[in-house]
Amino acid sequence: MANNLRTYLEMLEKEKPEVILRVKEPMKVAYEISALQRKLDAMRKYPVIIVERPILDNGEESAFPVVTNLTASRQLCAEALGISDHRRVAMEYAGRVAHRIDPVTVSKDQAPVKEVIEHGEDVNLLKFPILTHNYMDPGPYIGTGFVTNTDPDTGIDNCSLQRIWVKSPRRTGYWPAVVSHSMQNIWKWWERGEDMPVAVWIGHHPAGVSGAQSRLAYPESHYPAMGGLLGEPVQLVGTELFGDDLMVPADAEIVIEGVVPKDVFEAEGPFGEYPGYIGPQRPSPVIEVKCVTYRKDAIYHGIGVGLADHLVMLGNFPLEARIYEVVKGVVPETMNVFVPISGRRNHVYVQVEKKRPGIGKEVIMATLPCDSRLKHVFVVDEDMDLFNESDILWSVAYRSQWDRDVVTVEGCAVFPLDPSVPSPGNIGTRGGIDCTAPPPIGAGLPRYYQMVNKTPDEVAEAIQVEDFVDAATLAHYPTSS
Ligand SMILES: Cc1cc2nc3c(=O)[nH]c(=O)nc-3n(C[C@H](O)[C@H](O)[C@H](O)COP(=O)(O)O)c2cc1C
Repeated sequence: MANNLRTYLEMLEKEKPEVILRVKEPMKVAYEISALQRKLDAMRKYPVIIVERPILDNGEESAFPVVTNLTASRQLCAEALGISDHRRVAMEYAGRVAHRIDPVTVSKDQAPVKEVIEHGEDVNLLKFPILTHNYMDPGPYIGTGFVTNTDPDTGIDNCSLQRIWVKSPRRTGYWPAVVSHSMQNIWKWWERGEDMPVAVWIGHHPAGVSGAQSRLAYPESHYPAMGGLLGEPVQLVGTELFGDDLMVPADAEIVIEGVVPKDVFEAEGPFGEYPGYIGPQRPSPVIEVKCVTYRKDAIYHGIGVGLADHLVMLGNFPLEARIYEVVKGVVPETMNVFVPISGRRNHVYVQVEKKRPGIGKEVIMATLPCDSRLKHVFVVDEDMDLFNESDILWSVAYRSQWDRDVVTVEGCAVFPLDPSVPSPGNIGTRGGIDCTAPPPIGAGLPRYYQMVNKTPDEVAEAIQVEDFVDAATLAHYPTSS
């Protein structure tokens, strides 16, 4: 059987049941599930959460369970990709995207997502346990829907995770950013005078959903990259409304089909945006929903908007991989890349082996064009722990000079969800800081700067905390420094 959401959950149940938090009691889809997720996030605890009895806004129990926090733990996400050490995601993910695997087409009767097919008035999106997240949100938002459309010039499909506000049983708002490939396709269909065919698929293996989020060229199908991450071809099936002109994963949980009507914009939001603040209403396209297909026992995949669940695997892994691939091609001394959730997607840390002068700034210049959301690049040496933010700030403190090492590029397009730049327009400044020490002045010579302090290796090996204090006592020691 091909990998999909339920094969992944079954594997976890069998091999790692301790990472699952199963809620058997009724729990409201409005705010309650998000509240639990947010509280666990604040405690830095990241179980996969399964809510068996979600309660809809009309007070009824949904027939479908919710899984959320599926992609919240960096280590668990890396393991879902078959990468045993999360520190190696950038290079290994890039390798998988590079080895794309073409999808295969299956017939409708082989597609679990076609077990139930509903058209027209029979469609009611509000029966699915779609979460309402933040206190100003106008209603339930799908956060894990891959909006799939095509470039009408080439027929090439594009998948893009975009939030979808379910306004009523068959009408949604959604917000494709102007910089997205998804929006490019909308403009093209509308310039032809046509409504745009659209399908939204929900629910797949974490490697599949992450692969479908890969940062690619335009126009380029995401399905081969999704196959690369899954390690096997994605099984596709034609949609009910558009046949093989618009394909979706056959083993998804739910597919929503419809059109994006030409030139229709409606207010969307306000919305609790992923950077962590309430975004304003924006005029945005809508989806007129005409058909829905789903598994009889569909599992609804929800997301913790703006939490690690949203950021780690679905946004930051693909970014790390793209930056690694591009920047390593320009600066071979590039060692590793980390996009930390503290900066959401505005910050990126790049580690280099500083063999020659000048490469810090080369790295900054190569990194910025990789994605419009990358605002600040921090380049650090090989002796820093790239995944420890104290090391990054220490590098800023002791290996940089503000006037000498900062690169600023004014007048850049920046991602429109940054409230520090005026919208619309979204023109701002991007740049970076080279926090690397000078390289050795000659081959075989020591670095001009001293490397960081440490106890001699043999002493560090001999002194073990467990020899001085038991685990229970250790757990009660203050954790703030
Ligand atoms: C959970 C989640 C929700 C997202 N919501 C949106 C959204 O509403 N609008 C948007 O333009 N991008 C959104 N993004 C970012 C896009 O998915 C991402 O930029 C994607 O790579 C764009 O793909 P495209 O350029 O191929 O269209 C979201 C990302 C995640 C992980």
